[in-house]
Amino acid sequence: MGLHAELHRRSLADPAGFWAEAAEAIDWTRRWDTVLDDSAAPLYRWFTGGELNTCWNALDRHVEGGRADQAAMIYDSPVTGTKRSFTYRELRDETARFAGVLRSLGVEKGDRVILYMPMVPEAAIAMLACARLGAVHSVVFGGFAPHELATRINDAKPKVMVCASCGIEPGRTVAYKPMLDSAIEQATHKPARCVVFQRPQLKADLVPGRDVDWTAAMADAAPADCVPVKATDPLYVLYTSGTTGQPKGVVRDNGGHAVALKWTMQHFYGVKPGEVFWAASDVGWVVGHSYIVYGPLLHGCTTILYEGKPVGTPDAAAYWRVIADHGVVTLFTAPTAFRAIKREDPDGKLLATYDLSKFRALFLAGERSDPDTVQWAERHLKVPVIDHWWQTETGWPIAGNPLGLELFPVKYGSTCKPLPGWDVRILGVDGHEMKRGDIGAIVCKLPLPPGTLPTLWQAEDRFRKSYLSEFPGYYQTADAGFIDDDGYIHVMARTDDIINVAGHRLSTGAMEEVLAGHRDVAECAVIGVADDLKGQVPLGFLVLKAGVNRPHAEICKEVVQKVRDEIGPVAAFKQAIVVDRLPKTRSGKILRGTMQKIADSESWKMPATIDDPAILDEIGQALKSIGYAKAGG
Ligand code: COA
Ligand code: AMP
Repeated sequence: MGLHAELHRRSLADPAGFWAEAAEAIDWTRRWDTVLDDSAAPLYRWFTGGELNTCWNALDRHVEGGRADQAAMIYDSPVTGTKRSFTYRELRDETARFAGVLRSLGVEKGDRVILYMPMVPEAAIAMLACARLGAVHSVVFGGFAPHELATRINDAKPKVMVCASCGIEPGRTVAYKPMLDSAIEQATHKPARCVVFQRPQLKADLVPGRDVDWTAAMADAAPADCVPVKATDPLYVLYTSGTTGQPKGVVRDNGGHAVALKWTMQHFYGVKPGEVFWAASDVGWVVGHSYIVYGPLLHGCTTILYEGKPVGTPDAAAYWRVIADHGVVTLFTAPTAFRAIKREDPDGKLLATYDLSKFRALFLAGERSDPDTVQWAERHLKVPVIDHWWQTETGWPIAGNPLGLELFPVKYGSTCKPLPGWDVRILGVDGHEMKRGDIGAIVCKLPLPPGTLPTLWQAEDRFRKSYLSEFPGYYQTADAGFIDDDGYIHVMARTDDIINVAGHRLSTGAMEEVLAGHRDVAECAVIGVADDLKGQVPLGFLVLKAGVNRPHAEICKEVVQKVRDEIGPVAAFKQAIVVDRLPKTRSGKILRGTMQKIADSESWKMPATIDDPAILDEIGQALKSIGYAKAGG
């Protein structure tokens, strides 16, 4: 039996023994009483009775343990022309000081702090400072509009907010502070204080009595020590798209999270302490939480915080430059980033001038990796290119080629085998297990391993309903796919209304709620259509109210702007069309899946339950008129 098979078997046969062993790599202030607490099954808790501090494990223990002068974090920002390195000692000191700032503003263990920050070191420092105090951070991605931020403020009820004056997108400066002000105005919960990090590119106006200047506050602050918390206490809440406009607050605990992430660094990513690990993502996403901030730091690596894009900052060699400049051994990014690079530099000519001799592996996740892109990367980088599959909810990979254990042959289009801890099954609609090779719902047998979501923030019912109720005894991933004869997992599609745009998870349901709010719209549908660069992009269909006779182009333009204003530019909602009717089943359900297949020129079957088949012809014609449904339909 190979190493992976042996560990996988042990992890499922004796999860408590397996993870207790992994937990030895973490410093605990109090050892756990129970490794796997199943007293409230199907809700599970890991390491109950244990106490620790995540920030201690990410920073202080390395300072004490001989890494004080090693780089902990390198900030590389082509959009501002800045590079800055923090040793573990420096990062610990800055974090302790900012924890002091938060404490002086009243933040204590269990309080929530929302961060609305671009990719600046202060974002990571603020996250770690919350962890230091046992406060719960919730980072909101900067590409979300004030309305989305307000929704999260109302749900998390933060005592304090932390933001930067601006973010820098190629070609424009995004003023964050006015968006923060607008969100607080819209929210029913009012955070008491806001800390504002002023960037030289754009200064923000401060609200007297509420807002605090980051730099001034740091100058006066007394450093705060690590506060031990329970293993089961929340470290953070990260909101992710659900099927409606109300996002799901994924909760991450402290103990299981630290154990699992530290374990993955070596056993999955194959990285050793002291090496340079780069996740080219954003702190607003789960990849940023797990593999820009916590994973690499828990493991004593140097992490890269990159403020830029794969192309255009300044060119398609940006990633090669960062790898060469900082001696990166492992890069983790989304396939869309590589599609962007490939499009600009199809022959990989720009690679030639960079020294990538330390570079060992490329990891891709966040969306399906198309074989073309994987093969292009393999050809030019000449290192393993590893597709791995996970979700905000899981916090770390469910499946992937486990470079740190052993490397399996690549099958393009597959995310390889389940990692230790994951008992992945394929179920049919009635809950029976599917044969190898047959598509069904991908589920994971409970209990899930440590580091995965124990619940949704103050929404346990929703947690049960969304993930545990359809297939009792299993966690429902909401992905569909199959497992082949060699045990490789193939993730094919979501089973809900989530689409994946440039590696960003978005809810078409949330977009439909925005469209439905337009005064001229009677009915609407949003689907994700295939896009060469972003994987998918949203496309809206509008049925107008009777008697509306304004130009359709004008209405479409308005709804595009409305989605941008209410959800944010990250939705990449750029196109809508007006149709007379929407195709529905006899019970009134809109046939979004069939519309998507027609748009993408995939083969499709006439749904047996369709109300009026003629409507699909009309939809096909409408799609053709805007360049979709090219092959028949
Ligand atoms: N703050 C404000 N606006 C933001 C933002 C932020 N942090 N991040 C993105 N946006 C805006 C962009 O400016 C863009 O606005 P526009 O409509 O005015 O052009 C919009 O949101 C969409 O952004 P993006 O998805 O970055 O698309 P793009 O067309 O600018 O760039 C890629 C395309 C492929 C280069 C880009 O999507 C990319 O780098 N993808 C990698 C994805 C990734 O790392 N995902 C993390 C999961 S692992
Ligand atoms: P997020 O929660 O934003 O990380 O998005 C999770 C979703 O992205 C998953 O449920 C999948 O639908 C999709 N996804 C992530 N990684 C992969 C992958 N490697 N292959 C296919 N789909 C993926």
